[in-house]
Amino acid sequence: DQGYDLVVVANRLAVDRVTHDDGTASWRRSPGGLVTALAPIMARMDGAWVGWNGAPDEELEPFDHDQMHLVPVALSADEVQDYYEGFSNATLWPLYHDVIAPPEFHRQWWDAYRRVNVRFAEAAAATAAEGATVWVQDYQLQLVPALLRTLRPDLRIGFFNHIPFPPLEIFAQLPWRREVVEGLMGADLLGFQRTSDAANFHRVAKRYGGYAFRSGQVEVEQDQTSRTVRAEAFPISIDTTPLRQLAADPQVQERARQIRQDLGNPQTILLGVDRLDYTKGIRHRIKAFGELLDDGRLTVDRACLVQVASPSRERVDSYRQLREDIELAVGRLNGTYDTMGHTAIRYLHHAYPIEEMVALYLAADVMLVTALRDGMNLVAKEYVAVRGAGAAHSGVLVLSEFAGAADQLKQALLVNPHDIDGLKDTIMQAVEMDTKEATRRMRTMSRQIATHDVNRWSKEFLERLGTGTA
Ligand code: G6P
Repeated sequence: DQGYDLVVVANRLAVDRVTHDDGTASWRRSPGGLVTALAPIMARMDGAWVGWNGAPDEELEPFDHDQMHLVPVALSADEVQDYYEGFSNATLWPLYHDVIAPPEFHRQWWDAYRRVNVRFAEAAAATAAEGATVWVQDYQLQLVPALLRTLRPDLRIGFFNHIPFPPLEIFAQLPWRREVVEGLMGADLLGFQRTSDAANFHRVAKRYGGYAFRSGQVEVEQDQTSRTVRAEAFPISIDTTPLRQLAADPQVQERARQIRQDLGNPQTILLGVDRLDYTKGIRHRIKAFGELLDDGRLTVDRACLVQVASPSRERVDSYRQLREDIELAVGRLNGTYDTMGHTAIRYLHHAYPIEEMVALYLAADVMLVTALRDGMNLVAKEYVAVRGAGAAHSGVLVLSEFAGAADQLKQALLVNPHDIDGLKDTIMQAVEMDTKEATRRMRTMSRQIATHDVNRWSKEFLERLGTGTA
């Protein structure tokens, strides 16, 4: 076995192993934007994907699935707690998302994070061919670039951060800030979602590592040799082709009509689609919608909010609390405003297959993306790809300025979700927008997505990394 010329390393594999009640197991697409973006690329390229299979204590052999070569990395139950739920999702996640929830700093979690990063680096080193490209993904694996360079100096190493990179003043809180900077600086190319994220990293690298980036690059002296490290923005996107195909599929279109009918044919369907995460601004969205009902500016026979909140990180405290809060708010609102035939909020705590998601996008007149902070938000781009398919170009996107997608989707109705009055007015503007204007905006956005899809993103990143794999 000569190894692979392209290796992606991510905390999760593209699929999770789910064990059913009867003891049998199957594979299901993993949640989140990272997998949405990378799975289609990896299915096309002959590369390997190194990652965790989503369950504790399972040693699995490498296997092929969905045209991908998957190399599982095992995590013990303790490591799931300390490295994944702890350091990744209760330290780094809130720290990198504007400290919306307070980050917790525990030395035991950090120790596990370091240990698990070593394991991922070793797995990548064992999978990569001589001179291969290894592309490390996201905040869970920030130490892997430098660890991997020590193990395999022959590799080209890229890193992409799917979530925001915080300002220096917030990053400064991290007790292990120098180690994280040194871990990342092991890469040849560091990619970020927004130019502001890259700029934040440049400042952090200067302060905590003495690296003076100029025009996005810096020379690093190491063992008497010198190499260039680049850190730049590469806004991620989606694979538009399968979405457009589904949008044109008569069965999916029929399903969209059925959804509208099941909801009692309201004039306006508003839609939110998120992992159940406190960064997504779901509470703010529900508050604004509830006040519009209170004020009588909307009524349940006229408008219905469908909120898909897919289960996420359910063993982390802040996520449990969030679920309580949201379900309380939804219950109150529905109790107050539902009628026998109409509901205010149709709340769905499920993950759905892509066919059903496209039907929902087709059914929804207004898409609400009100994240308080979000690296990119691919749901916004999916809605545009679906609504821009064919000749229709309809639907209105309300988009938070705190989501990376706001840099590309400038014809969305941009909002500050903390400003509840502003959010209410913008929702009303979306509900009342005339078709001509909606069409004009959607056409421009859909062109943007069509020319800046995920294939272009990966091609640009890999070309910049200077590899033959693009
Ligand atoms: C975001 C992160 C990914 C993560 C995904 C799902 O998209 O950028 O790294 O995989 O959320 O979260 P989870 O913790 O379930 O992997």
